[in-house]
Amino acid sequence: MLVHAIPTNAGYEFAAEVRAGLTRAGQKELPSKYLYDDVGSALFEVISHLPEYGLTRADERLLRRYSDDIADRVAGPVAIAELGSGSGRKTRWLLEAFCRRQRTSYYPVEISHSALVMCERELSDIDAISIVGFEREYLDGLLEVAAYRKSGQRLLVLFLGSTIGNFDRPAGVKFLSDVRCILQPGDSLLLGTDIEKSSIELLRAYDDQLGVTAAFNLNLLARVNRELGADFDLSQFAHLARINEEVRSVEMHLESRRHQAVSISAAEVVVEFQEGETIWTESSHKYALGEIYEMARAAGFRCEVQWVDQQWPFAENLLIAE
Ligand SMILES: C[S@@+](CC[C@H](N)C(=O)[O-])C[C@H]1O[C@@H](n2cnc3c(N)ncnc32)[C@H](O)[C@@H]1O
Repeated sequence: MLVHAIPTNAGYEFAAEVRAGLTRAGQKELPSKYLYDDVGSALFEVISHLPEYGLTRADERLLRRYSDDIADRVAGPVAIAELGSGSGRKTRWLLEAFCRRQRTSYYPVEISHSALVMCERELSDIDAISIVGFEREYLDGLLEVAAYRKSGQRLLVLFLGSTIGNFDRPAGVKFLSDVRCILQPGDSLLLGTDIEKSSIELLRAYDDQLGVTAAFNLNLLARVNRELGADFDLSQFAHLARINEEVRSVEMHLESRRHQAVSISAAEVVVEFQEGETIWTESSHKYALGEIYEMARAAGFRCEVQWVDQQWPFAENLLIAE
């Protein structure tokens, strides 16, 4: 696989965003995209196998069952871009369906280098596929993929695993609108969305018994230690998953077990934490089925089909750019 690597100023951006997120007034925050370094991407892969985390299996069941239907609906010459592909394990079902019909170009866009490497390992044996990976943020990568488009070729964008839920609702619609601006009328977006379910199921999914999600979350502090020369004592922070009823999301936080100060050398800052104070690291918003039609419309798409998994309520939505 050809990989277009990430620009070299990424380290400065990381330091600047850590500094901004930990020194802001009110709730301290770190952007969830930084959960995915090599260790984080490997841990996320493990999370996707945990019995409590039904989301990935639901997504995969739908892709497996409906991949031929999807490939028939997105007929003609097509290039496929996947935003935040991760390991690409469940994308195999779709790519095989497209590759049975025609030679297919697949462009995973990933912020995590090791996820791109896993993705190539996972998918490069498919017949009639060519893979070019972009180590980029979602929209930067999609812009580059769009520039590769050949005349007469349609673009199908995959945004699976309910990663859209990491944006709050207004930002999610804005993100879909930004994707729509890069597409042409008739292009498609296959959007995976996790559907609302009981608090008990959700808290189990984001705070598993083995502690893998806790390790995934705490690795963010370990990453700040490794890459920015910080001195976070990991034993003094605890993983916390909680429901935010108001915005219908599950939030992950890291809670300080005591009053402490942490120095982050590359960000030139010392951050003080009160006992019980948290760093908000990720939100996963959950949706009602009808809501996705409205989000699509507000972003310039039409939701043509919605496939729903009954075992773990989850929807795969095929949106067409208008
Ligand atoms: C929740 S995981 C989902 C992975 C896979 N799509 C799935 O459904 O299992 C999100 C993926 O998006 C990537 N990612 C997160 N933020 C990103 C960003 N701003 N730009 C590009 N990739 C990003 C992460 O590295 C990670 O692999």
